[in-house]
Formats: sequence, structure tokens, C-alpha cells
Amino acid sequence: MQTQQLSLFPYLEAESATRPPDFIPIYEPWLGKREEQYVLDALRSGWISSLGKYVTRFEQQFAAFCGVQHAVSVSNGTTALHLALHSLGIGAGDEVIVPALTFIASANAVSYTGATPVFADVDPATWCMDPADVERLITPRTRALMPVHLYGHPAPMDALNALADLRNLIVIEDAAEAHGAQVNGRRVGGLGRIAAFSFYANKTITTGEGGMLTTDDAALAARCRLLRDHAMPPEKRYWHDEIGFNYRMTNLQAAVGVAQMERIEEFIARKRQIARWYCAGLAGIPGLTLPVEAAGYTNIYWMFSLLVDAPFPLSRDALIPALRGQGIDSRPFFHPLDTLPPYRTAQTRPVSLALSRTGLNLPSSPSLSAQQIAYICATIRSFAQPNTQYPIPNPQSPIPQ
Ligand SMILES: Cc1ncc(COP(=O)(O)O)c(C=O)c1O
Repeated sequence: MQTQQLSLFPYLEAESATRPPDFIPIYEPWLGKREEQYVLDALRSGWISSLGKYVTRFEQQFAAFCGVQHAVSVSNGTTALHLALHSLGIGAGDEVIVPALTFIASANAVSYTGATPVFADVDPATWCMDPADVERLITPRTRALMPVHLYGHPAPMDALNALADLRNLIVIEDAAEAHGAQVNGRRVGGLGRIAAFSFYANKTITTGEGGMLTTDDAALAARCRLLRDHAMPPEKRYWHDEIGFNYRMTNLQAAVGVAQMERIEEFIARKRQIARWYCAGLAGIPGLTLPVEAAGYTNIYWMFSLLVDAPFPLSRDALIPALRGQGIDSRPFFHPLDTLPPYRTAQTRPVSLALSRTGLNLPSSPSLSAQQIAYICATIRSFAQPNTQYPIPNPQSPIPQ
């Protein structure tokens, strides 16, 4: 199931404008023999629902990885966010501040509770929630801040935590896109009151569908466990003091998760290597802004993302089909949530809007080879100056840190 290594150089040498036979997708999960072995083991054991050794093992591994006391597995990242908010008692009449530039699940989870998402602008360099704008948006109804570690770069947790302490607010990390990212050597997942992760197929590790909550708060973790299982206490079968949910992860999903956790450090190292190859291959092209890693932060570059603007000869929207014509998939940034029909507001957030119009995700699978990255970079360079022959970056050469 490991993706095949592609040799794309013949196409470059032939200077062919035709599409290579193998399309480079935006993301492919990296699954191996261990995943197969553990899933088969779970299947043969008969423990295919949410009880089973892999669920417990996956939760323990993930808590240790994030450096927290508790991890609670759930059915996906959206239910993780919803369960966190609900367990904290957030509901109708409350406001939760989320960044305008994120996937819609961040705001939808707030809406499911009956609370109102309020959209803050993001920082133009890191693309994460801007504490200065957050401060302006705090009202007597604000209960929580939900920073998102967008595309793998951590949000400014120190400033947001300081603000939350001052104004008596809860911080819920949306870490769906940033497994292993760090702030001053501490991993996301342990930087707020509770954090939510996603294991969708395009995430840094996957369980197909799946999610996880991480926290150091034992009582909160216990409450999430209870509500995840229809609020049924394990010691009192079919007794329910309140309305809960079925947000459980299956043992089959957790079996994949355990195998993925055994290689998570390798996945993260590869993603950072891929980012270095991209940065070397795309350096100095006028109009392209490459992703940053702010001082004190470790970006895991979940999606290698960049901004495309003048004087680059193609707009971001024109570059997407041009790349597709050369066998390279890409994605535009999210639309700011305050411009979408469910959340449209009169006043949009200018930085989020500008980033959303120029931002592009390039292929970011951990299985990508140096040759594939070299091909993508050479293709983008050929669009930048069509008549110039660019040397193909040598994948063996050391990449600057
Ligand atoms: C920032 C963010 N939050 C939440 C989610 C929701 O995760 P899931 O797709 O597992 O429900 C995603 C997933 O794509 C995401 O990118």
C-alpha cells in the first residue's frame, strides 16, 4: 500500500508539455504492513466495535506523544471539537472566538452546541489567529477561544493563553492539522484546556475517519468519555443522567492508529524534509511567498502551502488548472468562514480574505520523493519564466535548514 516511487525526470528531459502518466495527488495516506497486520488481528479477535485493546493502546500512545495525561478517542475531528465544547458546558447564549481562516468544522462544532462562533482575523505571516483581533472581539458572552494550528503551524498559544487567563476564558485547541507541532518545545495538544485532533485520510496520521481529545484535566477527560458513550456510566448499564452521544472510535480504526503512531516521528520528519525541498526548489521566484516557521515554533507543514500573487504571471486560480495539466494536484486555501452562507457577516476580516484569495496547498503526502518535489518546483518555475531553462534541483544535495 506504500505509494510507488515515481520517476518523472524523463518528462522533464523530453520537455514534454503532456501530463505524466502518474498524477501527483494532494495527499495520500501512508499505510504499510503493520496497519494491515493490526487490523486483521482486531478483525479476527471479533472486537470490531469500540471495545478492544487497540482503542486503549492508541489513546495511551497519543497521550504520551502529546505529553498529556489523558487522551479520549472519538469518531472524527468534528465530533472531538463538539464533545470538548459540550463537555465544558458551552451552549446557547455563549460566544466562542474562532479564526476566520479555517476549515468549516471549527465553527460548525460551536454551532452544534447552540453557541455562536465569532470570527477573528489571522496573522499575515503564520496564518493563525491574531490575539490583537481576538481581544477586540471579546464580549461578556465570550466563553472560549478556539485557536487553529493552520496547515501545521501552531497558533500563538502564549499570547492567547495570557489573554484567556486575564478574561477568564477557556482555550480549546483545534489541532486537527498539526500533530506534533510545537511551541517552545511543547507539543500542541497540551497547550490549552483541551485539544481536538483529526485522523481523516489526509491528516499526518490517519485512521480513515477518527479523532482524539487530549487534556491534563482528569475530570474533563472523564466527562468526555461519559458523553462519548451516550452518557452511560460504565458501572450502571442503561442508566443515563443526561443526553450524550455515540462518538466512539472502533477498535478497527484504532488498530490503524496504533500502527501509524509507531511511525509518527518518521512522518513528521519527512514532512519537514519535504518542506525544505520545496523551499529550496521555489526560492526566489517573484510573487511566491513561502510558509514561515516563527521563532520558537515547530511547523510540521501538514500541507505545504504558499501564496501566489503578482508579479507571478499566473493568478492562484490560474495556477491550479495549469498544474493539473502537468499532473500535479493542488488546493486553494479555505474561504474565510465569515464569507460563507451559514456565517456571512457584514464585516469580513481583511487578512483572512487576502490569504484565502492567494493561498495554495501543494502535494504534501509523506511518501513524496525528492524527484517528485523537484518536478513540481521545476514546473512552477517554468510558469514563472516560460522561456528560461531552469536546472532541476538535485535531490541529493543538502537542503538548507
Ligand atoms: C482545522 C480543522 N478542524 C477540524 C477538522 C475536522 O476533522 P474531521 O474531518 O476529522 O471531522 C478538520 C478536518 O479536516 C480541520 O482541518
